[in-house]
Amino acid sequence: MKTETLTAAAPFLIEQDYSAYTDEQHAVWAELVGRVLPELEKHASRAYLDGFEVIGLQRDRLPRLAQISARLEPRTGWNSTPVSGFLPAPAFFEMLAARRFPTTTWLRSRESLEYTPEPDIFHDVFGHVPMHAHKVFADFLERYGQVCASIEDETVLEKLGRLFWYTVEFGLIRENNEVKVYGSGLISSHGECMNVIEGHCAIHDFSLDEVLATPVKVDELHKLLFVVSSFDQIYEAMHEAESRARQNRL
Ligand SMILES: [Fe+2]
Repeated sequence: MKTETLTAAAPFLIEQDYSAYTDEQHAVWAELVGRVLPELEKHASRAYLDGFEVIGLQRDRLPRLAQISARLEPRTGWNSTPVSGFLPAPAFFEMLAARRFPTTTWLRSRESLEYTPEPDIFHDVFGHVPMHAHKVFADFLERYGQVCASIEDETVLEKLGRLFWYTVEFGLIRENNEVKVYGSGLISSHGECMNVIEGHCAIHDFSLDEVLATPVKVDELHKLLFVVSSFDQIYEAMHEAESRARQNRL
């Protein structure tokens, strides 16, 4: 898939200027990874940890997006594509539908290691991209983009946003009777991850009805998240959500 096929997203596409990263920024990356990786090795989904190896993330250097994509594309067709910042919804959905993950290139500073109001390269690459190596998750995410790109009703999109939030951003999966994290917001935030692991957050078995009925809150640690038994479950939930959206009963 060439970037020329993108229209809504075209104004936001940039090059990653890798040589512009400073030693301090590489050191911040290394510190961010070092803060969370020991916990993730115990508590992250096998799919995430496998994907981390597949895409060849380094612990002490910021990632080169072209190298990441060169390893990812033969596996699932996904590409980590540099963008200038937060994308409007139509551009975001268009990119997902084309298996291009909009990836910011800036990195938070040492003063805000735990939290950034907008996604940065640590959230986008460390948090999201390893999961794109998982074939079922990869198919789910593309389908999500395709369906949302075809919908204009804001209420329906807000509901579908909840499905994205409680899977892609804050999803949990049960593996060998243990709850593991795979959502990027849990992977890339030590505080959010420990909130779940230390039992401060209720965990319900994933149900599309309950997910769609649970509003997103961005200003506090989660009190309720949802655990799937396999990634097939979110793929099937996407199909169900699509058919409900088409029949105006989402
Ligand atoms: Fe995210």
